[in-house]
Amino acid sequence: MASENIQRPEGAGEDWTVRQGWENYSSAEHAMWDRLFDRQAKMLVGRVAPEFLDGLDILRLSKPGIPNFEELNERLTKATGWQVVAVPGLVPDDVFFDHLANRRFVSGNFIRTPEQLDYLQEPDIFHDVFGHVPLLANPVFADYMEAYGRGGQRALRHGGLENLARLYWYTVEFGLIQAADGLRIYGAGIVSSYGESIFALDDASPNRIGFNLKRLMQTDYRIDDYQQSYFVIDSFEDLLSQTLNTDFAPLYADLADARAYATDTLLPGDRVFTQGTQDYATGKAAAA
Ligand code: PHE
Ligand code: FE
Repeated sequence: MASENIQRPEGAGEDWTVRQGWENYSSAEHAMWDRLFDRQAKMLVGRVAPEFLDGLDILRLSKPGIPNFEELNERLTKATGWQVVAVPGLVPDDVFFDHLANRRFVSGNFIRTPEQLDYLQEPDIFHDVFGHVPLLANPVFADYMEAYGRGGQRALRHGGLENLARLYWYTVEFGLIQAADGLRIYGAGIVSSYGESIFALDDASPNRIGFNLKRLMQTDYRIDDYQQSYFVIDSFEDLLSQTLNTDFAPLYADLADARAYATDTLLPGDRVFTQGTQDYATGKAAAA
């Protein structure tokens, strides 16, 4: 992920990459990967998009231990021309977009500690690799991510970053998809989270709304807790073709002075899969 106002750490290259340093992981760190992997692999059966499971298979992502990027990249590059590169943490937006536009996915090289098992603020290697990389082995999703990187470079010039960031959030991080036998999760933020992989699909609380590009780019999101709304795409092909065939510049201009929709809003034009009770968010707010 990208962020503003951060300093390039010592030892990172011009492009902010570092060596993964696979030989430096401790056995406790490898064991943490295994623990997270086991828990999610079980959770995902019947919940995740089949393309994600295909990706795990193609890349032979599994146990034991944290994947070595050199080995992972051999398979990933063969599948779609993508590569995973290590960075020390968040990187600036332009750096992030440049990597994506060139089919390089940036991943944190550290793994969470046992205290951070269920929540951490910065994406670690489990979120970045387990969450994001399987779909990069899918040719359509791979094209979408590259296009997003180029879209980001364009958004920087058009002042559309806030709107485009919402697209990333509600697809790449928290997207749902309508699969042959029902809704499935595919966003990395859900897929790598034990709690949210249940909540996003099975809980009565959140809204589930059909994908609508402009509407979504106008919708706030939560960075502090489970989402109050999820957007459902029809297919990865549809997501790719809609975003490729839409010129975002007029959307950015239109949305520049528009107010954002709140995270729980349902609109008259929405294609509603679930009208959420919002009980979870309401309960949390009351307890605070
Ligand atoms: N078509 C978008 C634009 O005009 C670029 C884009 C493509 C953005 C795919 C996201 C995903 O800026
Ligand atoms: Fe992420």
